[in-house]
Amino acid sequence: MTDFQTLLVETPSDGVLLVRLNRPEALNALNSTLLSELGGLLDKAGGDDAVRVVVLTGSEKAFAAGADIKEMSDKSYAQMMKLDFFTDAARRIEQFRKPIIAAVSGYALGGGCELAMMCDFIIASETARFGQPEINLGVAPGIGGTQRLTRFVGKAKAMDMILTARMMDAAEAERAGLVSRVVPADKLIETALEAAAKIAGHSPLAVLMNKELVEAAYETTLTTGVALERRLFHSLFAFEDQKEGMAAFVEKRKPDFKGR
Ligand code: CAA
Repeated sequence: MTDFQTLLVETPSDGVLLVRLNRPEALNALNSTLLSELGGLLDKAGGDDAVRVVVLTGSEKAFAAGADIKEMSDKSYAQMMKLDFFTDAARRIEQFRKPIIAAVSGYALGGGCELAMMCDFIIASETARFGQPEINLGVAPGIGGTQRLTRFVGKAKAMDMILTARMMDAAEAERAGLVSRVVPADKLIETALEAAAKIAGHSPLAVLMNKELVEAAYETTLTTGVALERRLFHSLFAFEDQKEGMAAFVEKRKPDFKGR
Protein backbone atom coordinates (compact mmCIF):
# COMPACT_ATOMS: atom_id res chain seq x y z
CA MET A 1 0.00 0.00 0.00
CA THR A 2 2.88 2.40 -0.55
CA ASP A 3 3.05 3.25 -4.23
CA PHE A 4 0.87 6.29 -4.73
CA GLN A 5 1.27 9.55 -6.64
CA THR A 6 -1.05 11.58 -4.46
CA LEU A 7 -1.14 9.84 -1.06
CA LEU A 8 1.36 9.13 1.70
CA VAL A 9 0.41 6.08 3.71
CA GLU A 10 1.78 4.89 7.05
CA THR A 11 0.84 2.44 9.78
CA PRO A 12 1.74 4.39 12.94
CA SER A 13 0.32 1.78 15.32
CA ASP A 14 -1.44 -1.58 15.26
CA GLY A 15 -4.61 -1.44 13.22
CA VAL A 16 -4.27 2.26 12.32
CA LEU A 17 -3.74 3.46 8.76
CA LEU A 18 -2.69 7.10 8.41
CA VAL A 19 -3.40 8.49 4.95
CA ARG A 20 -2.11 11.94 3.98
CA LEU A 21 -3.43 13.65 0.88
CA ASN A 22 -0.29 14.77 -0.89
CA ARG A 23 -0.68 17.27 -3.74
CA PRO A 24 1.02 20.24 -2.07
CA GLU A 25 1.29 22.14 -5.36
CA ALA A 26 -2.52 22.27 -5.56
CA LEU A 27 -3.41 22.45 -1.84
CA ASN A 28 -4.48 18.79 -2.10
CA ALA A 29 -7.19 19.54 -4.67
CA LEU A 30 -9.04 16.33 -5.42
CA ASN A 31 -8.20 15.29 -8.97
CA SER A 32 -9.20 11.99 -10.54
CA THR A 33 -5.86 10.35 -9.69
CA LEU A 34 -6.21 11.24 -6.01
CA LEU A 35 -9.83 10.10 -5.85
CA SER A 36 -9.12 6.84 -7.58
CA GLU A 37 -6.04 6.16 -5.41
CA LEU A 38 -8.02 6.92 -2.26
CA GLY A 39 -10.93 4.74 -3.41
CA GLY A 40 -8.58 1.87 -4.28
CA LEU A 41 -6.78 2.18 -0.95
CA LEU A 42 -10.06 2.07 0.98
CA ASP A 43 -11.28 -0.92 -1.06
CA LYS A 44 -8.11 -2.80 -0.03
CA ALA A 45 -8.19 -1.57 3.57
CA GLY A 46 -11.82 -2.70 3.84
CA GLY A 47 -10.80 -6.30 3.21
CA ASP A 48 -7.62 -6.21 5.28
CA ASP A 49 -8.07 -7.41 8.88
CA ALA A 50 -4.87 -5.61 9.86
CA VAL A 51 -6.62 -2.27 9.25
CA ARG A 52 -9.13 -1.36 11.95
CA VAL A 53 -9.41 2.39 11.45
CA VAL A 54 -8.23 5.04 9.00
CA VAL A 55 -7.08 8.57 9.76
CA LEU A 56 -7.33 10.86 6.74
CA THR A 57 -5.41 14.11 6.78
CA GLY A 58 -3.82 16.72 4.54
CA SER A 59 -1.10 19.25 5.18
CA GLU A 60 -0.94 22.04 7.74
CA LYS A 61 -2.13 24.53 5.12
CA ALA A 62 -4.87 22.46 3.54
CA PHE A 63 -6.82 19.32 4.19
CA ALA A 64 -8.06 19.81 0.62
CA ALA A 65 -8.99 23.03 -1.20
CA GLY A 66 -11.74 21.38 -3.21
CA ALA A 67 -12.20 19.34 -6.31
CA ASP A 68 -9.51 20.14 -8.88
CA ILE A 69 -10.89 23.17 -10.68
CA LYS A 70 -8.22 23.01 -13.40
CA GLU A 71 -9.15 19.41 -14.23
CA MET A 72 -12.88 20.19 -14.36
CA SER A 73 -12.91 23.61 -16.00
CA ASP A 74 -13.13 22.49 -19.66
CA LYS A 75 -15.47 19.57 -19.18
CA SER A 76 -18.84 19.59 -20.93
CA TYR A 77 -22.15 18.52 -19.41
CA ALA A 78 -22.04 15.38 -21.56
CA GLN A 79 -18.57 14.48 -20.31
CA MET A 80 -19.47 15.08 -16.65
CA MET A 81 -22.55 12.94 -17.09
CA LYS A 82 -20.85 10.12 -19.01
CA LEU A 83 -17.98 10.01 -16.52
CA ASP A 84 -20.55 10.26 -13.72
CA PHE A 85 -18.03 12.61 -12.12
CA PHE A 86 -17.40 11.92 -8.41
CA THR A 87 -19.98 9.12 -8.14
CA ASP A 88 -17.58 6.19 -7.99
CA ALA A 89 -15.14 7.93 -5.62
CA ALA A 90 -17.93 9.02 -3.29
CA ARG A 91 -19.45 5.54 -3.28
CA ARG A 92 -16.15 3.92 -2.29
CA ILE A 93 -15.70 6.33 0.63
CA GLU A 94 -19.35 6.20 1.75
CA GLN A 95 -19.38 2.40 1.66
CA PHE A 96 -16.17 1.93 3.65
CA ARG A 97 -17.40 0.04 6.70
CA LYS A 98 -14.53 0.75 9.10
CA PRO A 99 -14.19 4.09 10.89
CA ILE A 100 -12.46 6.96 9.10
CA ILE A 101 -11.42 10.00 11.13
CA ALA A 102 -10.73 13.23 9.25
CA ALA A 103 -7.91 15.25 10.85
CA VAL A 104 -8.35 18.70 9.34
CA SER A 105 -5.86 21.55 9.40
CA GLY A 106 -6.13 24.63 7.18
CA TYR A 107 -8.54 24.74 4.25
CA ALA A 108 -11.30 22.16 3.85
CA LEU A 109 -13.20 23.74 0.99
CA GLY A 110 -15.68 22.45 -1.56
CA GLY A 111 -14.87 18.80 -2.23
CA GLY A 112 -12.40 18.99 0.68
CA CYS A 113 -15.16 19.89 3.12
CA GLU A 114 -17.35 17.22 1.51
CA LEU A 115 -14.61 14.62 1.88
CA ALA A 116 -14.18 15.51 5.57
CA MET A 117 -17.95 15.24 6.07
CA MET A 118 -17.99 11.77 4.46
CA CYS A 119 -15.62 10.62 7.20
CA ASP A 120 -17.12 9.42 10.48
CA PHE A 121 -15.99 12.39 12.51
CA ILE A 122 -13.76 15.38 12.12
CA ILE A 123 -11.04 16.47 14.51
CA ALA A 124 -9.96 19.98 13.57
CA SER A 125 -6.91 22.05 14.34
CA GLU A 126 -7.42 25.65 15.43
CA THR A 127 -6.38 26.72 11.92
CA ALA A 128 -9.08 24.72 10.13
CA ARG A 129 -11.45 26.59 7.81
CA PHE A 130 -14.49 24.94 6.29
CA GLY A 131 -16.47 26.18 3.34
CA GLN A 132 -18.52 25.33 0.27
CA PRO A 133 -17.42 28.14 -2.07
CA GLU A 134 -18.59 26.50 -5.31
CA ILE A 135 -21.02 29.35 -5.94
CA ASN A 136 -17.99 31.58 -6.59
CA LEU A 137 -17.25 29.33 -9.57
CA GLY A 138 -20.79 29.40 -10.90
CA VAL A 139 -21.54 25.86 -9.74
CA ALA A 140 -22.87 24.02 -6.69
CA PRO A 141 -21.33 21.41 -4.39
CA GLY A 142 -21.24 18.02 -6.11
CA ILE A 143 -20.11 15.48 -3.51
CA GLY A 144 -22.89 15.90 -0.99
CA GLY A 145 -22.13 19.37 0.43
CA THR A 146 -25.65 20.76 0.26
CA GLN A 147 -27.04 17.65 1.95
CA ARG A 148 -24.43 16.79 4.57
CA LEU A 149 -23.56 20.34 5.63
CA THR A 150 -27.26 21.07 6.17
CA ARG A 151 -27.62 17.96 8.33
CA PHE A 152 -24.53 18.89 10.36
CA VAL A 153 -25.05 22.61 10.93
CA GLY A 154 -28.73 23.22 10.12
CA LYS A 155 -30.39 25.19 7.35
CA ALA A 156 -29.46 28.72 8.45
CA LYS A 157 -25.71 28.21 8.57
CA ALA A 158 -25.69 25.90 5.53
CA MET A 159 -27.58 28.44 3.41
CA ASP A 160 -25.32 31.23 4.66
CA MET A 161 -22.14 29.31 3.84
CA ILE A 162 -23.31 27.90 0.51
CA LEU A 163 -24.94 31.08 -0.82
CA THR A 164 -22.31 33.58 0.38
CA ALA A 165 -19.31 31.21 0.19
CA ARG A 166 -18.14 32.35 3.61
CA MET A 167 -15.80 30.06 5.50
CA MET A 168 -16.39 28.79 9.01
CA ASP A 169 -13.44 28.72 11.40
CA ALA A 170 -12.73 25.81 13.71
CA ALA A 171 -14.41 27.35 16.78
CA GLU A 172 -17.64 28.03 14.87
CA ALA A 173 -17.48 24.57 13.27
CA GLU A 174 -17.28 22.98 16.72
CA ARG A 175 -20.14 25.11 18.06
CA ALA A 176 -22.24 24.19 15.04
CA GLY A 177 -21.61 20.45 15.39
CA LEU A 178 -19.53 20.01 12.25
CA VAL A 179 -16.42 18.89 14.12
CA SER A 180 -16.11 16.74 17.21
CA ARG A 181 -13.11 18.52 18.76
CA VAL A 182 -10.68 21.34 18.12
CA VAL A 183 -7.04 21.03 19.14
CA PRO A 184 -3.88 23.11 18.67
CA ALA A 185 -2.33 22.58 15.23
CA ASP A 186 0.74 20.80 16.59
CA LYS A 187 -1.46 18.30 18.44
CA LEU A 188 -3.77 17.43 15.54
CA ILE A 189 -2.19 14.22 14.27
CA GLU A 190 -1.31 13.03 17.76
CA THR A 191 -4.92 13.52 18.91
CA ALA A 192 -6.39 11.82 15.84
CA LEU A 193 -3.98 8.90 16.18
CA GLU A 194 -4.85 8.52 19.87
CA ALA A 195 -8.55 8.39 19.00
CA ALA A 196 -7.79 5.88 16.23
CA ALA A 197 -5.70 3.68 18.54
CA LYS A 198 -8.54 3.68 21.04
CA ILE A 199 -10.98 2.52 18.34
CA ALA A 200 -8.46 -0.06 17.05
CA GLY A 201 -8.37 -1.60 20.54
CA HIS A 202 -12.10 -2.28 20.59
CA SER A 203 -13.88 -5.34 19.23
CA PRO A 204 -13.79 -4.84 15.44
CA LEU A 205 -17.26 -6.37 15.17
CA ALA A 206 -18.70 -3.99 17.75
CA VAL A 207 -16.99 -1.10 15.94
CA LEU A 208 -18.63 -2.04 12.62
CA MET A 209 -22.04 -2.34 14.25
CA ASN A 210 -21.73 0.93 16.17
CA LYS A 211 -20.74 2.78 13.00
CA GLU A 212 -23.62 1.23 11.08
CA LEU A 213 -26.08 2.21 13.80
CA VAL A 214 -25.02 5.85 14.00
CA GLU A 215 -25.23 6.05 10.19
CA ALA A 216 -28.73 4.59 10.33
CA ALA A 217 -29.81 7.58 12.44
CA TYR A 218 -29.50 9.70 9.28
CA GLU A 219 -31.56 7.38 7.12
CA THR A 220 -34.44 6.13 9.29
CA THR A 221 -37.21 7.26 11.59
CA LEU A 222 -36.51 7.17 15.34
CA THR A 223 -38.74 4.12 15.85
CA THR A 224 -37.06 2.13 13.06
CA GLY A 225 -33.60 3.23 14.17
CA VAL A 226 -34.18 2.25 17.78
CA ALA A 227 -35.65 -1.12 16.69
CA LEU A 228 -32.57 -1.76 14.53
CA GLU A 229 -30.30 -0.79 17.43
CA ARG A 230 -32.11 -3.20 19.76
CA ARG A 231 -31.74 -6.09 17.26
CA LEU A 232 -28.05 -5.42 16.61
CA PHE A 233 -27.45 -5.02 20.33
CA HIS A 234 -29.01 -8.46 20.86
CA SER A 235 -27.00 -9.92 17.98
CA LEU A 236 -23.69 -8.78 19.51
CA PHE A 237 -24.27 -11.44 22.17
CA ALA A 238 -23.56 -14.04 19.48
CA PHE A 239 -19.89 -13.01 19.39
CA GLU A 240 -17.02 -14.19 21.59
CA ASP A 241 -16.00 -10.54 21.88
CA GLN A 242 -19.07 -9.80 24.01
CA LYS A 243 -18.18 -12.65 26.41
CA GLU A 244 -14.59 -11.44 26.52
CA GLY A 245 -15.50 -7.76 27.03
CA MET A 246 -17.90 -8.45 29.88
CA ALA A 247 -15.66 -11.10 31.50
CA ALA A 248 -12.72 -8.67 31.40
CA PHE A 249 -14.83 -6.03 33.16
CA VAL A 250 -15.88 -8.45 35.89
CA GLU A 251 -12.32 -9.77 36.29
CA LYS A 252 -10.89 -6.20 36.31
CA ARG A 253 -8.53 -6.80 33.39
CA LYS A 254 -8.03 -5.47 29.86
CA PRO A 255 -10.15 -7.30 27.25
CA ASP A 256 -8.43 -9.22 24.49
CA PHE A 257 -10.81 -8.94 21.56
CA LYS A 258 -10.36 -11.43 18.73
CA GLY A 259 -13.00 -10.17 16.31
CA ARG A 260 -15.01 -13.38 16.64
N1 CAA B 1 -8.27 23.17 -7.76
C1 CAA B 1 -7.11 23.29 -8.43
N2 CAA B 1 -6.05 23.99 -7.99
C2 CAA B 1 -6.17 24.60 -6.80
C3 CAA B 1 -7.36 24.53 -6.04
C4 CAA B 1 -8.44 23.76 -6.57
N3 CAA B 1 -9.60 23.60 -5.90
N4 CAA B 1 -7.21 25.26 -4.90
C5 CAA B 1 -5.95 25.76 -4.96
N5 CAA B 1 -5.33 25.37 -6.11
C6 CAA B 1 -3.98 25.70 -6.57
C7 CAA B 1 -3.90 27.15 -7.01
O1 CAA B 1 -4.36 27.28 -8.33
C8 CAA B 1 -2.42 27.42 -6.87
O2 CAA B 1 -1.74 26.85 -7.97
P1 CAA B 1 -0.64 27.73 -8.78
O3 CAA B 1 0.46 27.93 -7.78
O4 CAA B 1 -0.26 26.83 -9.90
O5 CAA B 1 -1.29 29.00 -9.16
C9 CAA B 1 -2.05 26.59 -5.63
O6 CAA B 1 -3.06 25.63 -5.47
C10 CAA B 1 -1.99 27.43 -4.36
O7 CAA B 1 -3.24 28.12 -4.24
P2 CAA B 1 -3.35 29.71 -4.03
O8 CAA B 1 -2.17 30.41 -4.63
O9 CAA B 1 -4.70 30.12 -4.50
O10 CAA B 1 -3.22 29.77 -2.44
P3 CAA B 1 -3.80 30.90 -1.48
O11 CAA B 1 -3.21 30.62 -0.14
O12 CAA B 1 -3.62 32.24 -2.06
O13 CAA B 1 -5.40 30.64 -1.43
C11 CAA B 1 -7.38 29.25 -1.25
C12 CAA B 1 -5.89 29.47 -0.85
C13 CAA B 1 -8.23 30.33 -0.60
C14 CAA B 1 -7.79 27.88 -0.72
C15 CAA B 1 -7.50 29.32 -2.78
O14 CAA B 1 -6.54 28.46 -3.35
C16 CAA B 1 -8.85 28.92 -3.30
O15 CAA B 1 -9.79 29.69 -3.21
N6 CAA B 1 -8.98 27.69 -3.87
C17 CAA B 1 -10.18 27.21 -4.48
C18 CAA B 1 -11.25 26.85 -3.45
C19 CAA B 1 -12.52 26.37 -4.13
O16 CAA B 1 -13.15 27.09 -4.87
N7 CAA B 1 -12.89 25.10 -3.89
C20 CAA B 1 -14.06 24.50 -4.50
C21 CAA B 1 -13.66 23.76 -5.74
S1 CAA B 1 -15.04 23.16 -6.69
C22 CAA B 1 -15.58 21.80 -5.87
O17 CAA B 1 -15.00 21.36 -4.89
C23 CAA B 1 -16.82 21.17 -6.45
C24 CAA B 1 -17.40 20.08 -5.64
O18 CAA B 1 -18.14 20.25 -4.70
C25 CAA B 1 -17.13 18.73 -5.97
